[in-house]
Amino acid sequence: MTKLLELKNVSKYYVHKDGWLPGRKICALEPLTLTLERGETLAIMGETGSGKSTIAKLIAGAEKPSTGEIYLNGQLLDPRNYRQRSRHIRMIFQDSLRSLNPQTTIGRQLSEALLFNTTLTSEEQRDHVMLTLRKVGLLPDHYHFYPHMLSSGQQQRVCIARAIIVDPQIIVADEAFVSLDPSIRAQIINLILDLQEDMSISFIFVSHSAEIVKHVADKILIMHHGKLVEFGSTQTMMLQPQEQLTRLLLQTDLQNNVTAATSSSHSTTQE
Ligand SMILES: Nc1ncnc2c1ncn2[C@@H]1O[C@H](COP(=O)(O)OP(=O)(O)OP(=O)(O)O)[C@@H](O)[C@H]1O
Ligand SMILES: [Mg+2]
Repeated sequence: MTKLLELKNVSKYYVHKDGWLPGRKICALEPLTLTLERGETLAIMGETGSGKSTIAKLIAGAEKPSTGEIYLNGQLLDPRNYRQRSRHIRMIFQDSLRSLNPQTTIGRQLSEALLFNTTLTSEEQRDHVMLTLRKVGLLPDHYHFYPHMLSSGQQQRVCIARAIIVDPQIIVADEAFVSLDPSIRAQIINLILDLQEDMSISFIFVSHSAEIVKHVADKILIMHHGKLVEFGSTQTMMLQPQEQLTRLLLQTDLQNNVTAATSSSHSTTQE
């Protein structure tokens, strides 16, 4: 398999500008090296403050690394060139409603992603938006809807549409499904699995749910206080976890009903 994504000694430090200790350096991520192959799904797990979102943001280009480099298909990604990255690496956020523009129709928001990243004409953009709405299980009428007119599951489908519309290589999702109720979450995860199969997109997601991780991830990264604790294939980490924290995170799950729901038929139903 081709190496799709490589992180080489990527770290992130923040310097506090104010507060009671100005100038104090906070290490959100110690130098991290890892590789992801094309089409693979990586789950990032760890306790709160362990650096999961920091990794997601660094990969998506929302933050610049303090040290190290990130390569996509062997090509160094320029941390200052957001446009170069936004075509290939897309992010889905936890709060779907807040990540959509309340004053713009769904059709327009999806067209804007194309305007920014492609050279399609406005007619081609409209056709592509309609096709993408269908792909994520939405209706042509939703083109004219505003975000508040949609259910939370439909809003998350719009966010997925905005991510896939430019045919990306990687989608990064930071706890993107946590606020959805379990059955809708199962539908959204199945939708992602279907799209991944159709479009061979790699998927990187931050999750606290061992059940979801076991169900969808090829590789798991366990973090603690900004440091890598364990990284490997899901199968190996399930059967032979090397670290106590891995055992703990992969055994603990408060959302047991997700697997049963996601194991049922893949769906594109309307919520
Ligand atoms: N902009 C920032 N300025 C200063 N410190 C930050 C900033 N962003 C993150 N940090 C710190 O970096 C550390 C890692 O944060 P991060 O958001 O990556 O954690 P996380 O694993 O995603 O946690 P959670 O599960 O709560 O979302 C935390 O100690 C956090 O306070
Ligand atoms: Mg986080």
